Amino acid sequence: WAVFAPYVAAINRLKAERSAVILAHNYMTPEIYHGIADVVGDSLQLAIEATRVEADVIVQCGVHFMAETSKILNPAKTVLIPDPEAGCSLAESITPEGIAEMRARFPGAPVVSYVNTTAEVKAASDICCTSSNAAHIVAAQEADTVIMTPDKYLAQNVAKQVPGKRIVWWDGACIVHERFTAQDLRDFRSWNPETRIIAHPECPPEVVAEADFSGSTSGIIDYVERERPAKAMLVTECSMAANISDALPEIDFVGPCNMCPYMKKITLEKVLWSLHTMQGAVEVDPEIATKARVAVQRMIDLSR
Ligand code: 13P
Ligand code: SF4
Repeated sequence: WAVFAPYVAAINRLKAERSAVILAHNYMTPEIYHGIADVVGDSLQLAIEATRVEADVIVQCGVHFMAETSKILNPAKTVLIPDPEAGCSLAESITPEGIAEMRARFPGAPVVSYVNTTAEVKAASDICCTSSNAAHIVAAQEADTVIMTPDKYLAQNVAKQVPGKRIVWWDGACIVHERFTAQDLRDFRSWNPETRIIAHPECPPEVVAEADFSGSTSGIIDYVERERPAKAMLVTECSMAANISDALPEIDFVGPCNMCPYMKKITLEKVLWSLHTMQGAVEVDPEIATKARVAVQRMIDLSR
């Protein structure tokens, strides 16, 4: 922590000078999560918090689609992303043309797009979802067939939870979660039978089937805080366990995790630089933003 302290102090000073708040995703490193964040959460929580920000500036410690979502929901604010290269394999996997292709293949089916998409894709969708509300959003659609984009694994996991719907999906995947295999989890359980295994729903369905619980990043945190298992394996990004392990010393966080190379582009140095220079403001074309806001707001309204 000694090495981080000067950055943390400088960032917290600049936050006050610039009237800025830092919204940080659960995958941020501990020095960001504990040192400078004003709000931490999963994608849905951060989107809802963005609507409530009264400060002039939002610094989004997360990936680009999260900063765009904040800008869409609170357009009067300056939204800074400390590294514009902080992308997402899911957001990169689909374009508005892909949405049009799915609509042509399944006429009349509503398009439910994961928030891990660009503003243009959100604008072309009927409603958004996150990992914490996907099953609820899909179940709320009147149509029997629902298009889910772009995460095929989230769609397949939701299909199990909402058997009354025919769900069709785009062929996207998260490069972090697709790397876990069911065999990894079975092996791990055979060596450590008392371990509680908790998987994010971006994992393939056969991986989720091996887990004791599946939920959004905040759902995973809530679960371990509530259940307090002696040993827990978080089948997700590595910073999750790093961020909560100090507050839960009785839990032994075990097993492999995977690093998100995009989330890890956000560092204290880059946060300091963006607040110092005010560079890296996210802009969304107003017409696209208006359409995208409808899709995101429908999701928020249905999640209340
Ligand atoms: P959550 O909404 O669960 O935080 O997921 C966001 C994400 O990018 C996970 O990979
Ligand atoms: Fe995208 Fe996966 Fe990284 Fe989340 S963990 S930002 S879904 S690549």
